[in-house]
Amino acid sequence: MRVVRAMDELREATDALRAGGRGLGLVPTMGALHRGHLSLVAEARRHAEAVAVSIFVNPLQFGPNEDLARYPRDEAGDLEKLRGAGCDLVWMPPVEAMYPPGAATVIEVGGPSEGFEGTSRPGHFRGVATVCTKLFNQTGADVAVFGEKDWQQLQVVRRVAADLDMRIRIIGHPTVREEDGLAFSSRNQRLSPEQRALAPLLPRTMEEAIAAMAQGAAPDTVLPEATARLRAAGFVPDYLALVEPATLRPWPHGASGEARLLAAAGLGDVRLLDNMAAFLPER
Ligand code: PAF
Repeated sequence: MRVVRAMDELREATDALRAGGRGLGLVPTMGALHRGHLSLVAEARRHAEAVAVSIFVNPLQFGPNEDLARYPRDEAGDLEKLRGAGCDLVWMPPVEAMYPPGAATVIEVGGPSEGFEGTSRPGHFRGVATVCTKLFNQTGADVAVFGEKDWQQLQVVRRVAADLDMRIRIIGHPTVREEDGLAFSSRNQRLSPEQRALAPLLPRTMEEAIAAMAQGAAPDTVLPEATARLRAAGFVPDYLALVEPATLRPWPHGASGEARLLAAAGLGDVRLLDNMAAFLPER
């Protein structure tokens, strides 16, 4: 496994990996890798012969009051995990390589970037879209794999790739969960033991809401009740919303079919995100 930190070295390494028409898969990450990330590496391997992982804590996607400085970092641990996962190349650019002085271009996305995380974290998806576009261009990857855990991010990246006529294929991979149902996230490390014990109530409450809606209960009743239960248990819910999966527009009143239930809730100063498919029957 080769680790590169300079742009010219990256070009040479990715050219070598793509030589002879072998496909290159990219897994963009911000490090602090867990089982969820490693499942993305395995998924990338299913679509491409060589796999590159980028590790870059992207300052552009953090707001002024967000946790950039506190974002967990574990370079040695990450590299060891990637070696074990059979990754071919790790791209770890310094901030100055990604955003050299004078850089003045960003990718501004409408549509699926509006609302939800886009409202709670202004500028976040501009940062994600910009860095992902740069990573796609820098590596020349044929496919990129993203976790469904960040559902809105996945839809935003798909939108960018389609709107800018990129040739890269964007692949979503199902959320990997702990045994108690909590979605793997680098931010889980910051939960206290008490908060960690409470955290699985979020996916459990979502599952219960989905089961009730599948049996015909109205989202307008189920979702406020579920939100109130989370609040009473100690969460600070931001949203629990039923949306159209790709556009993230509100799920039309009374419609049937496969919707997406999106959730964000604070637990102490940790923001937990989750989402699940929700099937609404005909009524
Ligand atoms: O999901 C993440 O870890 C980041 O948002 C990403 C896609 C690596 C862009 O910085």
